[in-house]
Amino acid sequence: MTLAPNPPLTAEAPLSPASAAPPAVENLAQLTRADFPLLAQTACLGQPLIYMDHAATSQKPRQVLEVLQHYYTHDNANVHRGAHQLSARATEGFEGAREKVARFVGARRAAEIVYTRNATEAINLVARSWGESTLRPGDEVLVSLMEHHSNLVPWQQLSQRTGCVLRHVGLTADGELDLDDFHAKLNARTRLVSLVHVSNALGACNPLAELAPAIHDAGALLLVDACQSLPHQRVAVSELGCDFLVGSSHKFCGPTGIGFLWAREALLEAMPPFLGGGEMIQEVYLDHSTWAELPHKFEAGTPAIGEAIAMGAAIDYLQSLGLKRIHAWEQELTRHLFARLGAIDGVRILGPSPERQPHRGALAAFHVEGLHAHDIAALLDSAGICIRSGHHCTQPLHRHYGLAASARASLGFTSTPEEIDRFAEELQSAIQFLRDHS
Ligand code: ALA
Repeated sequence: MTLAPNPPLTAEAPLSPASAAPPAVENLAQLTRADFPLLAQTACLGQPLIYMDHAATSQKPRQVLEVLQHYYTHDNANVHRGAHQLSARATEGFEGAREKVARFVGARRAAEIVYTRNATEAINLVARSWGESTLRPGDEVLVSLMEHHSNLVPWQQLSQRTGCVLRHVGLTADGELDLDDFHAKLNARTRLVSLVHVSNALGACNPLAELAPAIHDAGALLLVDACQSLPHQRVAVSELGCDFLVGSSHKFCGPTGIGFLWAREALLEAMPPFLGGGEMIQEVYLDHSTWAELPHKFEAGTPAIGEAIAMGAAIDYLQSLGLKRIHAWEQELTRHLFARLGAIDGVRILGPSPERQPHRGALAAFHVEGLHAHDIAALLDSAGICIRSGHHCTQPLHRHYGLAASARASLGFTSTPEEIDRFAEELQSAIQFLRDHS
């Protein structure tokens, strides 16, 4: 399959390098930039560092860094174990952060939030626990062609263990989920539909709330990979109508090593533990054990305590800005990014345009005819601009487009129109250089 040419530019997509966001939308970069020490760095030759790899990981505001530092300096102790004050403070911070995560995704109870290392581990938890205890040979798990490897490989492994069948929803020519194909593949054998909310490669925002009723009517459950939506727009499990939702703190201004699974309480109650060990038990005998209450049944071993508390601080930070404001600013930035990229000869952007999907992700993965994404990324790096190149953990998607790799610029609320302009100019120069030297 070849990539379709970029759609013609519209009036909403100004071309001028000097263009900036209309005044109606608040410039959140101006408001927040000083909070991010890393973004004040200069790159090689004293050039300003331009970070356009937010989809890989976000940068951290000092409000989060300070909470992490404070925890290890003043409160560090193990949770749920000690009678001493330090342990009580650590436990209070740790459980308080769980409540913040619950409010962040609109969960009914904090007990519905299970801490994991990241979203990948959360999906593996569902596959191992719910999948192995529920699925029988011939049952179907429906995913899509745009899934991250973390939402493909655990189901492939589950299929090998249980005999369940993995089916894939295709894409439209615009790089969106093919809804006709989705409805054709959803059937009485489907037990789980596991879909990304916003694709890390296409930027496509999938209409999950619209699909949820059909999924439930078919007797299946819906798992949402919200890694790329949680940092950029309001996400509420009740509005999505999902049964499982996973997220990773490091994508939304928190530390690495901590993420979460949200699931409906009745599901979690019925699911067997994932990992065994300390913390997740009620009673241990030499020959058997009983399990702790939710959510601890799923949290074996000492967790990432300071990181969980700092994840809570990241949520506080995002909520103090407001997810609606963040989304509005990033929509402006995305339109600008598409306008600038679309005007460069030979650039083909993957995924739906912002005109087609106003709520798409603030990123653009692209291919430049005849050039390798790694060469482009290396030249941009030498100009102080960080973008990602490769398959972005979506090899099947890249194979679908006949590509081994693409380049990807991904934005955050600290990004600016001026950075996008600089990126476009340096990209144009890099393309020229590589063409002249090929
Ligand atoms: N999934 C991350 C990305 O898209 C790592 O870059």
